[in-house]
Amino acid sequence: MRAPICVPSSIFSFLDVIYSISMDLFLIAAICFFIFLIAIFGFWIIFFLSYWTFFFGAGLNIAPKKIIRKMLKLAELRKGEILYDLGCGNGRILILGAKEFEAHGIGIEISPFCYLWSKFNVINNSLSGKVKIKFGNFFKTPISDADVITIFLSNRANKKLIPKFKKELKSGTRIVSYYWQIPGMIPEKVDKKAKIYMYRM
Ligand SMILES: C[S@@+](CC[C@H](N)C(=O)[O-])C[C@H]1O[C@@H](n2cnc3c(N)ncnc32)[C@H](O)[C@@H]1O
Repeated sequence: MRAPICVPSSIFSFLDVIYSISMDLFLIAAICFFIFLIAIFGFWIIFFLSYWTFFFGAGLNIAPKKIIRKMLKLAELRKGEILYDLGCGNGRILILGAKEFEAHGIGIEISPFCYLWSKFNVINNSLSGKVKIKFGNFFKTPISDADVITIFLSNRANKKLIPKFKKELKSGTRIVSYYWQIPGMIPEKVDKKAKIYMYRM
């Protein structure tokens, strides 16, 4: 009869250690991979939420407060006037217009994400009575009661808006565009450094 093979117990504990280390490594690798997937998809989700509206006029880009103040000053926005922001983003222009210039604001926004964001900001600032946010395409929404219109869009969208402005706006309505000029229209006032252009119908 053969004698049973004796395996030293230290070998088992060595294998145990290797096994537990490789399980830990596997778990760490799985977690890293999961984080990597979230980062990649998160980036594309945020990118998509922000920029798909480019095809309708412009992607999301929020104008700085300093610029907004300059835009509304250049337009000489007065108390009680109706201010439209075409593509209102997070509603910042309208909120500042209502708070600092006592204007009534109307925002038009095509992105559900930005629509809800600006709605939330309006409610959060207790301005529901003064600022309205409409969900829709500004090319298809009436704007004839505007005294002042703000736009921060694109060269292409500004150009496409000209027939609408000519058809709907009353004489004297001020249009303030940040960053992009309105091709074919001559601005009444320009802040070259801030890239703000004010037009009067
Ligand atoms: C560059 S952002 C400007 C946001 C805001 N007006 C500001 O200056 O902070 C342009 C906004 O216009 C919206 N937008 C683009 N095309 C639109 C359209 N046809 N109708 C309504 N909103 C539109 C986008 O969703 C985006 O929120």
